[in-house]
Amino acid sequence: MSSELIVDIKNIVKKFQDFKAVDGVDLQIKKGEIYGLLGPNGAGKSTLIRMICGVLSPTAGSGRVYKYDISKDSELIKERIGYMSQKFSLYEDLTVMENLRFYTEIYMVPKNERKERIRETVNMAGLQGKENVLTKNLSGGWKQRLALGCTLIHNPEILILDEPTSAVDPVSRRIFWGIIYKLAKRGITILVTTHYMDEAESCDRVSFIFDGKIIGTGNPKKIIEEKNVKNLEEVFITFVEEIYGKKITDSFDELKFISGEH
Ligand SMILES: Nc1ncnc2c1ncn2[C@@H]1O[C@H](COP(=O)(O)OP(=O)(O)OP(=O)(O)O)[C@@H](O)[C@H]1O
Ligand SMILES: [Mg+2]
Repeated sequence: MSSELIVDIKNIVKKFQDFKAVDGVDLQIKKGEIYGLLGPNGAGKSTLIRMICGVLSPTAGSGRVYKYDISKDSELIKERIGYMSQKFSLYEDLTVMENLRFYTEIYMVPKNERKERIRETVNMAGLQGKENVLTKNLSGGWKQRLALGCTLIHNPEILILDEPTSAVDPVSRRIFWGIIYKLAKRGITILVTTHYMDEAESCDRVSFIFDGKIIGTGNPKKIIEEKNVKNLEEVFITFVEEIYGKKITDSFDELKFISGEH
């Protein structure tokens, strides 16, 4: 991993009317890094991601992806990013191959490169043998890999995955993460959100988001050691306790406060 900064976000805010969904976030991601965003439902992860991808404009703050300004150069950013949104959509009535072909058109992959990009993507996402299967007949894990394939079709330098493995079985999740590692080894920078702590522990660095703010960042193994706890869930609780200056017991009311149901 080099030290080149690919994503550099400063004090970014997103307000929906009076509500601050993202409340002054700084975020730096290096080339080839696998960076995880963790936090309860409603913490602001997807909103932050959508601003980084240039699909949502920030209320305040600034940021760049490479040298491009997230507020002004969103088109240039979109060309370099592969964004798999939390609710990605595939064309169910198309085959795997037809979906991939369709995405080469959406991403305007030059015509003479399409065949080769599709071949590479099929290999990378492990879709060999499924090319002619109708998408609606694929199981959830295969659909996820096809969605990843469609996200990779224009050879992006940054991959942004919003809960890519929700509702996928443990074996398919492992396969999916195997692909993520391969991509990171090729120098692709990866930003991923997840609620699975085993996945989070596979990241080079993670940030915990709570109420629109980053409350802690670090290498998973190192922060578990530093906080002297068993796992990342406990690290998260420790960060919340530090911010709010009180111990959190597992009473229902306090858990509701963490899970965003307050
Ligand atoms: N377009 C919008 N208009 C109004 N409020 C919004 C909008 N988008 C998001 N929000 C609110 O902003 C907050 C953060 O939402 P966001 O989707 O970023 O959370 P999240 O961390 O991705 O949660 P999850 O883990 O459930 O995906 C939530 O309270 C949500 O209801
Ligand atoms: Mg989300």
